[in-house]
Amino acid sequence: MSVYGEDAADPMSDTQSHAARAEELRGILTQAAHEYYVLDQPRLPDAEYDRLFRELRQLEEQLPELRTPDSPTLRVGAPPADRLEKHTHLSPMLSLDNAFSFEELAAWETRNARIVSEVREAGYTTEAKIDGIAVALTYENGVLVRGTTRGDGVVGEDVTPNLRTIHEIPLRLNPVKPFPARFEVRGEVYMSLSNFQALNERRAAAGQPTFANPRNSAAGSLRQLDPSITASRSLRFFAFTAQLDPADNDTLPASSQAGLLELLKLWGMPVNEGYRRHDTLDGVEQYVRELEVSRDVLDFEIDGVVVKVDPLRLHGELGVIGGREPRWAIAYKFAPTLVTTRLLTVEINVGRTGSLNPYAVLEPVEIGGATVKLATLHNEEDIRRKDIRPGDRVLVKRAGEVIPQVVGAVLVEGEPRAEPYAMPQNCPVCGAPVERPAGEVASYCPNTACPARLYWGIVHFVSRGAMDIRGLGERTVQQLLDAEIVRDVADLYALNPDTLLRLEGFQTRSAENLVRGINESRNRGLARLLFALGVRHVGEIAAQRIAREFGSMERLLAVSEAEIAAVHGIGATTAEALAAFFAEPRNRVIIDKLRAADLVMVEESVRVVDGPLSGLTFVITGTLPSLSRKEMSRIVEEAGGRIAGSVTRATSFLIAGEDAGSKLDRAKELEIPLLTEAEVLARIQAPPPAADACDGEADLWDVISPVEEPVNPPVETTTEDQADLWR
Ligand code: IVH
Repeated sequence: MSVYGEDAADPMSDTQSHAARAEELRGILTQAAHEYYVLDQPRLPDAEYDRLFRELRQLEEQLPELRTPDSPTLRVGAPPADRLEKHTHLSPMLSLDNAFSFEELAAWETRNARIVSEVREAGYTTEAKIDGIAVALTYENGVLVRGTTRGDGVVGEDVTPNLRTIHEIPLRLNPVKPFPARFEVRGEVYMSLSNFQALNERRAAAGQPTFANPRNSAAGSLRQLDPSITASRSLRFFAFTAQLDPADNDTLPASSQAGLLELLKLWGMPVNEGYRRHDTLDGVEQYVRELEVSRDVLDFEIDGVVVKVDPLRLHGELGVIGGREPRWAIAYKFAPTLVTTRLLTVEINVGRTGSLNPYAVLEPVEIGGATVKLATLHNEEDIRRKDIRPGDRVLVKRAGEVIPQVVGAVLVEGEPRAEPYAMPQNCPVCGAPVERPAGEVASYCPNTACPARLYWGIVHFVSRGAMDIRGLGERTVQQLLDAEIVRDVADLYALNPDTLLRLEGFQTRSAENLVRGINESRNRGLARLLFALGVRHVGEIAAQRIAREFGSMERLLAVSEAEIAAVHGIGATTAEALAAFFAEPRNRVIIDKLRAADLVMVEESVRVVDGPLSGLTFVITGTLPSLSRKEMSRIVEEAGGRIAGSVTRATSFLIAGEDAGSKLDRAKELEIPLLTEAEVLARIQAPPPAADACDGEADLWDVISPVEEPVNPPVETTTEDQADLWR
């Protein structure tokens, strides 16, 4: 463009229209970024965003005077600086006093009540205390003009270009609500846990030192001279307060902390949605307890709860101690969950499916009140990705009831390291060469007779959701295996009190109780049995779906892999694993032994048999002349009848033998007709209607449970439900 403008008809109006277009583009892009990063509701397609973004950048390159401090193009990183400039805050950035118990929290309230008595009833807000670094953002006429770190509270560092790279920080406020002409928004810059982990993995892979925790990582990323490095770190931000310049004599349009947070949201600020308002300290306590438990579902580190007196007018009355700590807020601190220690060795546990599960042996370290010596390492792939080697200093996380985890290595430049960890080629328990199925991250011991697999297999078989055999703990399982009394799960059903009494620690009573527990477990049904067998990929839900679909073990053994894969909710992997399990002769032997031990191998709820007794419900009582009650149950069910445990109005007949007791009385009371053994058999002799080919075949080896047990599918809960609370 000529300086004199000979070849442009009207350069002035041209620039004006460019300015208008730039303004329009800034508006669209700002709105789109807010929808994407803060509201998590993107509306503008990515490609469209990119196109408009490029148009704005081109305009600004041609006409640099159009570049404003709120231009989204500034987010991608300004040129590197020589140093970070110091900046004196409008008013000091305060720190917080800590409370480590509810008593200390109550004492804080008591101290405050001596100054302002109404504080007990004024209400509190609670906010998660995010473990990041505090920053102050100055907005002038709604435009971000400066961003600084807290520094020592009085003087911080100017990191404006770096803060502009954080997409969640609005470069311009949304004017839906009026804002002061000049003020600061204060909040916390942090790094999400997933981002932190990924960053450390990348650094470890590149041989660079890694960060000890997300906080250090956020601080290091924010205090860069080159904003493009900050931009690459995907930092995040939560706003928690606003601050006026005391000289400005202005006011904020909010009267409470909760109202202030809502106002910040309206202006386009990201606010942690987990904040709450409580009438009294009781509510605060409850929130603290809940958050301490649920915090491990969050994708960011929190180290406590900030409790604030809700009405802002009381903040002035309560004042600040020593110009440093406000009386109106306190931090309730949680025990840390993230610590560093030394990884001594990696050891392997062989699980029931044969999976080789590596775990870390650590230099003992305290986390959240417990001493941690071991931590899970998931699998070989996990160790490789995180590049954790014996001898490394490692970051360990423990939260709530969760087993401690090794998050990653903390590398120090120049410190020598061991060779990368390699999984053993042979099972550390039985020595069989390990297998690594294609597409899986775990290695497996293929030997079904491996003592470790056997041990964990039995522990799983007897566990709660499986056969639920009470009184059979891990120690007893080990004793039974050591004494070679039990060689597979089916051997459990041959146990008698005398055998058990030979084991250390058993007495008549405990031996009898265990045998009773084992006997009762025969009735659990096909779904629980399938789950108990510990087939790879067959969890409780899958086992239920399969059992309901096929109804009996006999059918299941007869169907093809494709038929299993066709069951709703069952995938090819599960079907393949199940087929492989049944194809293994050793497993067939176990199933035969379990059948011989009278285990229920049908799923009752699906067993609909068409027969002479269809639609009728029977109860059996007393001693029958020739059949046992179990045999009678089977006969009735095979003829389509249903067996119930107690007499109700829904009972069709009571089958009564000698010495019938209260059930007979009840049946008479309800006028339920009685049948003898002979009468039942006579009814069944009647010519059977055309039965379904499959179900009509008597399941000779399936024993039917006389006990009615409704099958309740276990409820699947997800931690995402809880995480939703938090953005
Ligand atoms: S309020 C006086 N609210 O904790 C008000 N601080 O130990 C000052 N922090 O420097 C802070 N989350 O960096 C407040 N919701 C929150 C916070 C929070 C994290 C940090 C902040 C502050 C430090 C005090």
